[in-house]
Amino acid sequence: MATIVSVHSFRGGTGKSNSTANLASLCAQQGYRVAIVDTDIQSPGVHVLFGIDEAQAPRCLNDFLWGTCRIDEAAVDVTPVLEGGVEPVAGRLFVVPSSIKSDEIGRVLRDGYDVGRLNDGFRALIKSLALDLLFIDTHPGVNEETLLSLAISDLLVLIMRPDAQDYQGTAVTLELARRLEVPEILLTVNKVPPSLDAVKLRVDVARTFGVEVAGVLPLNLEMVEVASGGVFVTRYPEHPFTRELRVIAGRITVAAAPAARRA
Ligand SMILES: Nc1ncnc2c1ncn2[C@@H]1O[C@H](COP(=O)(O)OP(=O)(O)O)[C@@H](O)[C@H]1O
Ligand SMILES: [Mg+2]
Repeated sequence: MATIVSVHSFRGGTGKSNSTANLASLCAQQGYRVAIVDTDIQSPGVHVLFGIDEAQAPRCLNDFLWGTCRIDEAAVDVTPVLEGGVEPVAGRLFVVPSSIKSDEIGRVLRDGYDVGRLNDGFRALIKSLALDLLFIDTHPGVNEETLLSLAISDLLVLIMRPDAQDYQGTAVTLELARRLEVPEILLTVNKVPPSLDAVKLRVDVARTFGVEVAGVLPLNLEMVEVASGGVFVTRYPEHPFTRELRVIAGRITVAAAPAARRA
């Protein structure tokens, strides 16, 4: 039994793909077998952070959804990216990218796909790669995949910025997550400007939504500079931002630990 973690936000650009990549990397560094599936078929991105190019990923999630390959055939082992030639990584990290070809994105938008098949793919991937943790990076907003991923998740990492539009959308997603009985929700505020009092923000957000806030992450200039050209926590392992992310990763691995022990 693996732990399924979906990473959502109501609006785009909140930091879902970067958070997914960073949290998944931290979990792999702690010895877990981890995979990320990029279900943001309309605007895929997580592959960029791991430098996955077409040669490395001749197959992708789209091929699986169209029935032309198995899902594990579309998985790229990105563990060497985490090692960066320094310490060996105790766990493993795989990415199932989504196609970046305009005709393939267009085909999904035009013809759609069977969301049930996506669910079968998650289960097959967990089994064939013997995963402890499966991260689902998502498209913003609410659509069929959002409902599926919430319904099957053990844990939801819900990301918002301190922005009035995000507040409304986060309330909508939270209501859905509660209705779908997601067992654990880690609400995270990202891109918090230095002018805001992080402690007060944490209290205010928790009070507004009636859930604990798992993390308050600052607007991080070094992250802007990395510009999705790498995984922040591997570039800056001792950075205070990485330490904050490690706390959230710790919450995820606590949820995963019983499953990993059973494996
Ligand atoms: N805490 C942060 N501080 C500064 N920039 C950030 C932070 N989190 C994410 N970003 C930047 O914001 C942009 C959008 O992030 P991304 O992870 O692609 O969001 P999403 O997947 O939600 O659309 C990227 O350029 C990323 O580098
Ligand atoms: Mg994204």
